[in-house]
Amino acid sequence: MAKPALLPLSGRVAFVTGAGQGLGAAIARGLSEAGARVALADIELANAEAVAAEIGGLALQLDVRDEAAFSGCFDRAVAHFGAVDIMVNNAARTPTTSLWDITPGEWDDVLAINLRGSFFGCRIAGRHMRERGEGRIVNLSSMAGQQASSATGVHYAASKAGLLALTRSFAQELAPHGVTVNALAPAAIGSPALEAMEPARRQALQAGIPLGRFGLAEEVAAAVVYLASPAAAFITGATLDLNGGRFMR
Ligand SMILES: NC(=O)c1ccc[n+]([C@@H]2O[C@H](COP(=O)([O-])OP(=O)(O)OC[C@H]3O[C@@H](n4cnc5c(N)ncnc54)[C@H](O)[C@@H]3O)[C@@H](O)[C@H]2O)c1
Repeated sequence: MAKPALLPLSGRVAFVTGAGQGLGAAIARGLSEAGARVALADIELANAEAVAAEIGGLALQLDVRDEAAFSGCFDRAVAHFGAVDIMVNNAARTPTTSLWDITPGEWDDVLAINLRGSFFGCRIAGRHMRERGEGRIVNLSSMAGQQASSATGVHYAASKAGLLALTRSFAQELAPHGVTVNALAPAAIGSPALEAMEPARRQALQAGIPLGRFGLAEEVAAAVVYLASPAAAFITGATLDLNGGRFMR
């Protein structure tokens, strides 16, 4: 059934990587609630299928490390929906390995998924959107890319810092073509891992958040919806911080 025209993303099509669980799944749901039709791409196809079934989306298997496969997967979404208006580069690996223990293989894999995969996503969607003269790209960075943190690995932090630079470069390149490119930098978002944490440790973490609570996946989704909506048409090359005040700049 057609969505009512009043929704901010009615008639729009979104492509979300890593949409099978966590923030990617919440973002796919949020975009759908805002009226968009959504392609959900994940290396774990069964997870993408489960979320797609909930929201009437298109599930696709994708390994963002493989540019040719990424391109083919994106083309399938274009063939299915007619176009892609919104690209969300969300897929990532988040290891916490100490910097003394990271192997070259683990370093390369984290950079290949988090940074190179997002580069492919920006370039593949960017070409499509450049031709159409419009589009929105949102990259999931992290506070770990802005400030030192012992919670995640240095390879993860480096990939997320790189993603902020990549966001600005694509924003500059695509601005003349009506395409905006922005980054989100979340931190302190609630997750099953956080729920499973020992209460004293969780409370200590919470005490370090000026707003006094963890963020919700739905709040990250709302920020993506905003950046994809007509209201954010003049915003490009920006990093939107979503961290409860943990990092103010
Ligand atoms: N959860 C947080 O608190 C938080 C904070 C800051 C930033 N982020 C960022 O938000 C994004 C989502 O985080 P999350 O916590 O939901 O992660 P998650 O680990 O729960 O989910 C990541 C998803 O990406 C998929 N994926 C992994 N490798 C892939 C590959 N090679 N190709 C395609 N898909 C692949 C996984 O299957 C999974 O569905 C990430 O970019 C992360 O860095 C999350």
